[in-house]
Amino acid sequence: MECKKIALFASGSGSNVQNIIEYFFDNEQVIVDSVWSNNPSAYVLERASKFQVKTFVFGRDEFNNSNLVVEKLKERGVDFIVLAGFLWLIPSNLIQNFKIVNIHPALLPNYGGKGMYGMNVHKAVVENKETESGISIHFVNEKYDEGELIFQAKCPVLATDSPDDVANKIHELEHKHFPEVIEKVLKDRN
Ligand code: GRF
Repeated sequence: MECKKIALFASGSGSNVQNIIEYFFDNEQVIVDSVWSNNPSAYVLERASKFQVKTFVFGRDEFNNSNLVVEKLKERGVDFIVLAGFLWLIPSNLIQNFKIVNIHPALLPNYGGKGMYGMNVHKAVVENKETESGISIHFVNEKYDEGELIFQAKCPVLATDSPDDVANKIHELEHKHFPEVIEKVLKDRN
C-alpha cells in the first residue's frame, strides 16, 4: 500500500484522536497528517500538539461556505478523513473530495441522527433499558449517520449500568477497534 495521509476531525476531548495517532505513530504507510477542529478550546488540539501533529481550527462560515478547508487538505496531500467526535454536519464539498469515515457510539440505525451524540446516546440507551449497546463505524454521506456501515461491535448493558458506565464500555470498544478498521479500509482502497 503506498503511503496514505489521513486527517482527523474532532470537536472535543479527542481520546480517539490520540489513540489513532499512537496506533499509526511508527507506521510508514499511514501518516496522521493533521488534526482539525471547529472548537478552538477543544482538548484534542492539545493532545495533537503533544505528538507534534499539525492542528487547524476553522469557523462555521469557513467550513460551510468556502473551499478553504478542502483546498488546505488537498495542498497537504490528505486523501482520507476520519471523524472522531466531530459534531458538525459535513458539507458536500468535503464529501465530494474525500473518503470520510465516522464513528458513532451506538448500534446504528438505532440511536443515530440529530441530537444523538456523546452522553445523550448513552442516557437514551439506559432510559430505554437496552440490554446491549456498541459502536458503529461508517462511511459519511450527506445524511451523516446513514452512510454505509463498515463495522459494528457490541457490549452488554446491565440493568445497574449508569450512562457513564455505558460510555466507558463504548470508549473501550472504540479504542480497541477504530484504528484497526481505519487501517483495513485504507488497505482495501488500494
Ligand atoms: C466518541 O464516543 C465517538 O463515538 C463520538 O464522539 C466521542 C468522542 O470521544 N463520535 P473522544 O473525544 O474521542 O474521547
